[in-house]
Amino acid sequence: MKKPYLISPSILSADFTQLGNQIKQAEEAGVDWFHVDVMDGHFVPNISMGPVIVEACKRVTDLPLDIHLMIEKPEVYLEDFANAGADVLTVHIETCPEMDFTLQTIRDLGCKAGITLKPATGVDKIKPYLKDVDLVLVMTVNPGFSGQSFMPEVLPKIGQIRKILDEINPDALIEVDGGINEKTIRQTFDQGAEIFVAASAIFNHPHGIQRGIQSLRDLLP
Ligand code: DX5
Ligand code: ZN
Repeated sequence: MKKPYLISPSILSADFTQLGNQIKQAEEAGVDWFHVDVMDGHFVPNISMGPVIVEACKRVTDLPLDIHLMIEKPEVYLEDFANAGADVLTVHIETCPEMDFTLQTIRDLGCKAGITLKPATGVDKIKPYLKDVDLVLVMTVNPGFSGQSFMPEVLPKIGQIRKILDEINPDALIEVDGGINEKTIRQTFDQGAEIFVAASAIFNHPHGIQRGIQSLRDLLP
């Protein structure tokens, strides 16, 4: 958390036959974290990966692993992800009826605790927990798939959350996820985002992973 902003490539768009190699390429290009999208086919209409992949990532990189849990009952699986090597565990407000307990469990496991919300969910829903989180992940697409279009109507939410955090928890970081690319990253930075997740803009960049990362960095100060 030393840089003013962090890039966290989402491996959802990586070539899974080359995962270790692609993680190394991204690491050499100077990324800060890796984002792992966990989907269960219930909370979101897609199934992706679980602790086995987190454990495999841990074996190829020392960078922090940023785990985005798009699953029902995430509290059941937190320990498995922590044991697999998670550094940050982010849970959706829509799936956690006992959010205080869930955030405490994450911290007790030695991980940083993140809270996230779908584009249609209001900031008021997460406000009671903002004093207790290390990061707030603002979804800028409906969770479930990489390669979707950024939703500009979510932009004011970033500024709104930043303002609340500045008052009650200034060290907490805001992460944005979904449709982050050369056209959208700067708008989110200008609203106060500090961690930028990108899958397709990095792993599907026509000139390769390193150019994809560089083209995002070039748009930040
Ligand atoms: C969407 C995931 C995102 C996704 C981003 O549900 O949470 O992390 O991988 O993909 P892009 O950057 O292609 O929108
Ligand atoms: Zn994600």
